[in-house]
Amino acid sequence: MTTPISSRIDLHGEIALVTGGARGIGQAIAIALAREGASVVVADLLPAEETIAAIEAQGVRGLALTLDVTNREQVEQVFAEAAHQLGPISILVNNAGTCGRVSLENTSDEIYNRDMDTIMRGTYLCTQTVYSYMKQAKRGKIINISSVAGKMGGPTARPGSDSSIGRSGPAYAAAKGAVIAFTKWVAKDGGQYGICCNAIAPGPIDTEMIRGFEFNLDVMPIRRVGQPQDIAQAVVFLASPAANFISGSVLNVDGGMVMD
Ligand code: NAI
Repeated sequence: MTTPISSRIDLHGEIALVTGGARGIGQAIAIALAREGASVVVADLLPAEETIAAIEAQGVRGLALTLDVTNREQVEQVFAEAAHQLGPISILVNNAGTCGRVSLENTSDEIYNRDMDTIMRGTYLCTQTVYSYMKQAKRGKIINISSVAGKMGGPTARPGSDSSIGRSGPAYAAAKGAVIAFTKWVAKDGGQYGICCNAIAPGPIDTEMIRGFEFNLDVMPIRRVGQPQDIAQAVVFLASPAANFISGSVLNVDGGMVMD
């Protein structure tokens, strides 16, 4: 895929699948991709009627499919159904995630397995499944939503305070770090097939996931909590032909929190 010289992003003809697109960041991503012309499949445990209505309001096709990203059988069925109804997926956004905000001692096996499975196993299963479609088409964009926690372990604990407040837990950080390593593996392998794979590392974004938690804005040059649209615009860029020479990168979208 060469990079065209064009002043505007055009995703007409692309078929995107966004996991966890019923609400929050995934919802904003799904709507933003639709706004640029992509047909969008929203795959989530939760009902996604609201997202689908917003997608269709852009004049493109939307399709809601129920999916638990940790379940191989369901993942394979969803990608097959998407291909049947809309065509093979050309843009995959691995966004579904859960976040335990507990200390190391309080990380139960349930919390560990839930966060690792939703974030890492889900990203792995969806990528593995879409890969054959993309290899056949000799093109594709995979965008994984990691986190600043996957780069730097989340914020430093404040001495004397409850170590869980405002911090993502250790399983979450480990899973998000694993997603970054996986992104690079797929980028290195996928290049030969025309597949680009990149990650985004968001800082705190105003969604249900951070409800009730405080963040220290002093560590962010852009002193605000991000909005889901901040992440969605970065996804649109990486999914577009403007990013055809970018693979294996991790784009910080965090108000300047991490500079690496
Ligand atoms: P959210 O909790 O609002 O949305 C998560 C979505 O994922 C929900 O729609 C949920 O139903 C879905 N989901 C959860 N488990 C699933 C499963 N097993 N199968 C299918 N869908 C499932 O959270 P938010 O903030 O929109 O998070 C989206 C992504 O962004 C997550 O990967 C999260 O870790 C990441 N992120 C969020 C940040 C924030 O501050 N909100 C910061 C950094 C990363």
